[in-house]
Formats: sequence, C-alpha cells, structure tokens
Amino acid sequence: MKFFIDTANLDDIAEAQALGVLDGVTTNPSLMAKEGITGEENIINHYKKICDLVEGDVSAEVISTDFDGMVKEGEALAALNPQIVVKLPMIADGVKACKYFSSKGIKTNVTLVFSVGQALLAAKAGATYVSPFLGRLDDISTDGLHLIEEIRHVYDNYGFETQILSASVRNTMHVINCAKIGSDVMTGPLSSITGLLKHPLTDSGLAKFLADYEKGNN
Ligand code: G3P
Repeated sequence: MKFFIDTANLDDIAEAQALGVLDGVTTNPSLMAKEGITGEENIINHYKKICDLVEGDVSAEVISTDFDGMVKEGEALAALNPQIVVKLPMIADGVKACKYFSSKGIKTNVTLVFSVGQALLAAKAGATYVSPFLGRLDDISTDGLHLIEEIRHVYDNYGFETQILSASVRNTMHVINCAKIGSDVMTGPLSSITGLLKHPLTDSGLAKFLADYEKGNN
C-alpha cells in the first residue's frame, strides 16, 4: 500500500520523506488555509515547494465547481510539474472534468467520495485515484472501512485501474485496516505514519540489548 501524507505542512512532509516510506502528498483547500497559504500565487508556489520535497504524486485541488473552470485550473496546475494530480470534487462537472483530463493523460484524484456509486462513476470517468473519506464516515457512525471494502470488491469485479486512495485517515488503526482490505493508497497525517513505529516491547527490548552490550563491553 502506498503511503501519502495528507497535509500542506512542509516540515511534516519533509519528516515523512526522510523516513523513506513516503509515496506522495494530498492537499485540499482546508489544509492549505491551515498553513496560512492563501492567494493563487502563494498556493501555486506552495505546490512547487511540495513537489521539490517529494518524488511521488502531489494532489492539488481545484476550487472551481463548473467544468470550464475546472479544466482551466486543472490544466494550469498540471503544467506546474508532472507530479501534480488534479483533484476534482465528486459532482457532475467533476466527473466530466475527470473524463476530460484522463483522455488527455493528466492524472486525477476524485475527492469527497462517500458511496460505492460515486466510486463507480469516478472509475468509469478514468480517475487515477478515487478518495473515499474514511474518517468522516466514521464521524457520523457509518462504517468507513466497509465502504472501502465494497469499492475494492466492485473495482476487482471489473478490473478498474483506478486506485483506491483511502482518505480522511486519522490514526494507525485506519492505516492497518486499509492495508488489510487492500486499499491501494492511504493518506493521513504524519502521526498516522510515525505512530506505526511505536511498540513498548520494541523500546524495552532495545533498552535491554543496549544495557547488555554495555555490561559485556565494560
Ligand atoms: O484527504 C481528505 C482529508 O483531508 C480529509 O480529512 O480529517 O479533514 O476528514 P479530514
């Protein structure tokens, strides 16, 4: 499973990259705003900085909600760097724009997906990635992982190449469960990746090894 980091924070991206396990980055307008990145020029410059930090795909979301606007914005974003994936909302014009970009060989990520039907539409429109929002479904007492399982089943039935990018991942158990059910990618905060490192038996075992080494060498 590919690991993407879901942030616009350059320090967090650099830390995940340095760990050697990062495959890409996803952003959205809320994450940009959280970092204080506002205005078209600053946002474009920020995407360039993110692309310089990582080697993999970087999802950049359009703000337009009409087909023409999405195409204009998406083409400008895609021209920044081959790493850029045009992120489009799951609305009718987003599906049309997805079809347009996929026919031109431009990578897409269809976001704000909350049902199997939406995921099916994204795949038929040739999306590179589909982003079901796991955490936000869990927030409303709906089983987000079950949705991802169902999308996996439907995609496998027909051999769709669209990659399931489990988004709105919040914690390490989300990451582990996404891996168990065959999600192609997960995107979450830095803590959902670094949290996987932690185990008390690793810490106590290492402390014992080092203590025994010291004893044997002194
Ligand atoms: O990738 C989508 C993600 O940014 C949404 O996450 O935690 O705001 O639901 P969250």
